[in-house]
Amino acid sequence: MRVLVTGGLGFIGSHTVVELYKAGHEAIIVDNLCNSKKAVLGRLEKITGVLPKFYEIDCCDYEKLKPVFANEKIDAIIHFAGLKAVGESCVKPLEYYENNLISALTVARLMREFKVKNLVFSSSATVYGLTDHAPVTEEDPVTSAINPYGETKVMIERILEDIQKAEPWMNIALLRYFNPIGGHASGLLGEDPNGIPNNLMPYITQVAIGKREKLHVFGDNYPTPDGTGIRDYIHVVDLATGHVATLKKLETNPGLVVYNLGTGKGTSVFEMIDAFEKATGVKIPYVVDAPRPGDLAVSYAKTDKAERELGWKAEKTVLDACADAYHFQKNNPNGIE
Ligand code: NAD
Ligand code: WQD
Repeated sequence: MRVLVTGGLGFIGSHTVVELYKAGHEAIIVDNLCNSKKAVLGRLEKITGVLPKFYEIDCCDYEKLKPVFANEKIDAIIHFAGLKAVGESCVKPLEYYENNLISALTVARLMREFKVKNLVFSSSATVYGLTDHAPVTEEDPVTSAINPYGETKVMIERILEDIQKAEPWMNIALLRYFNPIGGHASGLLGEDPNGIPNNLMPYITQVAIGKREKLHVFGDNYPTPDGTGIRDYIHVVDLATGHVATLKKLETNPGLVVYNLGTGKGTSVFEMIDAFEKATGVKIPYVVDAPRPGDLAVSYAKTDKAERELGWKAEKTVLDACADAYHFQKNNPNGIE
């Protein structure tokens, strides 16, 4: 398939481009570089042997995006493009709603106009909101998320459901990712946040290379065995192969489908520190701080539906992810330059 990958130079998008080529697909990347670097393209070429076609375009810009749809014979779209920092979304809700909603609407409009049959949308476990149980299944209610970022995912899911109902020829997959971590085994691709990392794994890797003094553990008094928060960390390469499996599913014309992409296993913050130390031999100093507002105690996926219907499941371990994330961080102490 010829797959339009919006946000294809970002963390998950770049790993997915690699897996698309591996599976015999072709990727056409659109990215406005608001949270990624053009240098990722050369790295993709190094890994895949192919320099993917790249358009530096904002997906909110209908007029600029239209020629891409007109000129490239697109069979499927994977829409990764979006802003994703939870804390920032509380400070800049307007920018988050504008970018995430308008880019999704523009892509959907062009999908309809050019009769592209298949769309995969990057949703998030955040759509389950402040749920009090784990694991969560795809049937759990999606009512309201905890922050503006999460709300954009809830809204876009609803919008895409309505569009698919009105256009039954469309196949749309809503993929709810849990916590993607890790990087490509080559050390060429990985997570490259701007400034102070918001997420656990990039913070740990920056402590590991001495860029930050110590990890701040956000609370050790949760109702979990060791008191720290539990999450479902999925290796980004597993997540990427989940997209390839989803495209295969969409080829069977299923209409609208929803899948959790996680491992089904929970790991606490303390367990993650241990795993990192085991995988890399590097000690991670930490202090325990107050809990972060809005954090859940426990979140992990029920993965049976994806296993059954996509024939896909996460294969890599948290130790693999720690080793790969560290490899990328060591090779790129200042991110991708
Ligand atoms: P990322 O920031 O690394 O990648 C997103 C890419 O989209 C970046 O390259 C950015 O430059 C680009 N982009 C943003 N807005 C754009 C626009 N209007 N037009 C064109 N390009 C634009 O983020 P990621 O971690 O790879 O996440 C990809 C998607 O998955 C996002 O939609 C995110 O919300 C979703 N998601 C991520 C996580 C996570 O923890 N990383 C979890 C759940 C869902
Ligand atoms: C994981 C655990 C923290 C940092 C976020 C978004 C979610 C999704 C994935 C996009 C928690 C603890 C963290 C630190 C810590 N993104 N922690 N010290 O919050 O599960 O999910 O990213 O859709 O929407 O909310 O991930 O990596 O920030 O936190 O102790 O410096 O690590 O409290 O228990 P989270 P995270």
